[in-house]
Amino acid sequence: MATAAQFTRLPHPAPTAAADRAAVLADPGFGKCFSDHMVCIDWSEDKGWHNPVIGPRGPIALDPAASVLHYAQEIFEGLKAYRTADGGIALFRPEANAARFNASARRLAMPELPEDLFIGAIRELVAADSDWFPTVEGGSLYLRPFMIATEAFLGVRPAKEYKFLVIASPAGNYFKSGAPAVSIWISDYTRAAPGGTGAAKCGGNYAASLVPTAEAFANGHDQVLFLDAAEHKWIEELGGMNLFFVFSDGTLRTPALTGTILPGITRDSLLQLAREEGLTVQEDRYSLDQWRADAASGHLVETFACGTAAVVTPVGKVADRTSEFTIGSGGPGQLTQKLRARLVAIQRGEAPDTHGWVTRLG
Ligand code: PLP
Ligand code: COI
Repeated sequence: MATAAQFTRLPHPAPTAAADRAAVLADPGFGKCFSDHMVCIDWSEDKGWHNPVIGPRGPIALDPAASVLHYAQEIFEGLKAYRTADGGIALFRPEANAARFNASARRLAMPELPEDLFIGAIRELVAADSDWFPTVEGGSLYLRPFMIATEAFLGVRPAKEYKFLVIASPAGNYFKSGAPAVSIWISDYTRAAPGGTGAAKCGGNYAASLVPTAEAFANGHDQVLFLDAAEHKWIEELGGMNLFFVFSDGTLRTPALTGTILPGITRDSLLQLAREEGLTVQEDRYSLDQWRADAASGHLVETFACGTAAVVTPVGKVADRTSEFTIGSGGPGQLTQKLRARLVAIQRGEAPDTHGWVTRLG
């Protein structure tokens, strides 16, 4: 059984030239450029997790019958490493990502990965790619741990062989900069149904969200919003973010974790920060009709999306096939900005870490 201490380190024969790297780091965008290294760990029934390697990033060989290619047995995580003001590196709540990864693994009938191996793999990668932190404001090194079923077998049952990998991508803003707030498209499609995989971070959920996402883009919006599967009435979440609502009486509401929503780590952190601010926080259902009515009456003053990639992003406009409404002034609201600033300051080591959320990597 592999442990975090036993990584084989393969040297990179031709790392990216410094000038090319600098050009990437000055304008990284999101998810379009990658660092030089990756981690790979294998799993088999007889050996468990074995052969942990950190080496040059590159294509992986898969048998064309590998289960992941046919039945989508795949899960992933997303977390960021931050360059702190004192020149160190920090991770935000990596234990929470490790725990959610294992919850996803259980739902997808995949082997769990010990937390020390999950975090150890991330440590190895960040150490190898420590010169890949963006130089832009708000930049970070986005880490993408994932697991795929590699067994060559076409029968439908959980695979008996897997690979865990971690890649890294220098990241700036998830959304194209310029707009003060994002615009949301309400989809007729369903993302997740009770008893399904909505609470797991599996690629299949995102595959199902691509047609509605393309529809959102085609209609001029930035993200898709999904309603519940049964009544098509209750707000669930966006394609890749959780949602919060702020009311004129100072209360904050976010949909409850009913099993069809991804339990966001940003969501959980903001709930804790808001409660500490003395705000009344409700984890409860909220209907689209009520949202529209509250926005019109002025009872609803702000809405924001949150997630690792999106951080905290104000929602300005909401539309479906027949109607459109604006949230507040259509720009960033006060509480949205305040919560974002508090969260970011903790993540970047600029505010005291009173929750034990920050792991320093040296
Ligand atoms: N909901 C979905 C569907 C997501 O993909 C994400 C992003 O990971 C989130 C919510 C927010 O989760 P987190 O805050 O853990 O990044
Ligand atoms: C993240 O925020 O890490 C996510 O995974 C969302 C991404 C799919 C946009």
